[in-house]
Amino acid sequence: MAKKPVKITETVLRDGQQSLTATRMRFEDMLPQLESLDKAGFHAIEAWGGATFDSCLRFLGEDPWERLDTLKKHLKTPISMLLRGQNILGYNHYADDVVTEFVKKAVEHGISIIRVFDALNDVRNIKVAIDAGIKYGAHVQGTLVYTISPYHTNQTFVDLAKELEKMGVHSICIKDMSGLLKPYVAEDLVKSLKAAVKLPIELHTHYTSGFGSMTYLKAIEAGVDIIDCALSPFSLGTSQPCTETMIAALEGTEYATGIDRKALTPIAQHFLGVKNKVINEFKLKNHFDVDPNVLDFQIPGGMLSNLYNQLKEQGMEDKYQDLLEEMPRVRADLGYPPLVTPSSQIVGSMATFNVMMGKRYAIVPREVKDLARGKYGKTPMPVAAEVREAIIGDEPIIDYRPADDIEPQMEKLKAELAEKGYPNASTEDVLSYALFPEVALEFFKNHR
Ligand code: CO
Repeated sequence: MAKKPVKITETVLRDGQQSLTATRMRFEDMLPQLESLDKAGFHAIEAWGGATFDSCLRFLGEDPWERLDTLKKHLKTPISMLLRGQNILGYNHYADDVVTEFVKKAVEHGISIIRVFDALNDVRNIKVAIDAGIKYGAHVQGTLVYTISPYHTNQTFVDLAKELEKMGVHSICIKDMSGLLKPYVAEDLVKSLKAAVKLPIELHTHYTSGFGSMTYLKAIEAGVDIIDCALSPFSLGTSQPCTETMIAALEGTEYATGIDRKALTPIAQHFLGVKNKVINEFKLKNHFDVDPNVLDFQIPGGMLSNLYNQLKEQGMEDKYQDLLEEMPRVRADLGYPPLVTPSSQIVGSMATFNVMMGKRYAIVPREVKDLARGKYGKTPMPVAAEVREAIIGDEPIIDYRPADDIEPQMEKLKAELAEKGYPNASTEDVLSYALFPEVALEFFKNHR
């Protein structure tokens, strides 16, 4: 039996805790088990990026750069991070010098693997980050943001993967943020990718719709190299499939991971305690049901409850079903963007306004206009002509890379910080300020 061991990226320190406990896990809660996690034999430990940076500064009073330093001190296993391309870890496009400097510093502080994605799969928005990652010696992973639409087929994803390979990435990630990837579709997609590109393929899914481990199993049989899993207390629900379960499922087969499942038990016990503590402290929701609604409406789990609460605040909770049905219509109107930060919020707020006003596109948030203008990049399909007309009239469309309009920002930001009383701000602090200005200033006030 030829061995084809499957590798695992453990997500408990990033996506697991982001998905189930709103990214409120403190570094002190990670520290006691870092050594054991390190010894477990994971391909990588995802521990930085995504929402962790914002959460450190905003809620936890932690410097995200210092957190990374300390993680690196305790982990020889490669540390991976998630990066939103030209958005870095924020919600706007930043200048190229900010993106490049951020990637450089992330690598300096200990990041080995950078997963770079763009919400629209517009490769122009990830090129600078990819180039910087390659230049500073990281393993750069190009991302296929998975979604379902008349535009998105396995062939369009294969074409995108080929383009990423040409850009020099070292591996490809299929990022299925809402758990929409069905087992047999995954099998076909992985087979097609394996035939088309030479790079390792990593699969990242969420359990939202209940497919998770079935999808992994079919992808594994089709030759996927790496799967993202979360230790049991931080698995399932809107998080990843369970690490221990996947290890056990593959034991005794050609795909056996070689990871000692029993060695994970005390680590899982520790993180179960952490989860309960964090849920209590921050009064978080403590249970996530499997939600088959996501298959019809493609709305990620966390977002469904937000939308419901917004309607409820307006006394319009009876419009919830209308909103669920309006979401896919708005998404179609806006050219079928995959629903991930920030496009999920953009489509969600537009659909909410349409339902609350009882009239479509009567009130249009600025971000929706920007999306129609091309300020986030190229939508998979063009914005419907009559909708574009209704929301931006005959304004010109940005058909070039949106960040081409942004002047270099690092020097300006440094000067701004000096003016605000921080003349010797480190480059790291300038980067924190670039991404989250108010939050960073508040943090500096208390910690500098
Ligand atoms: Co995820």
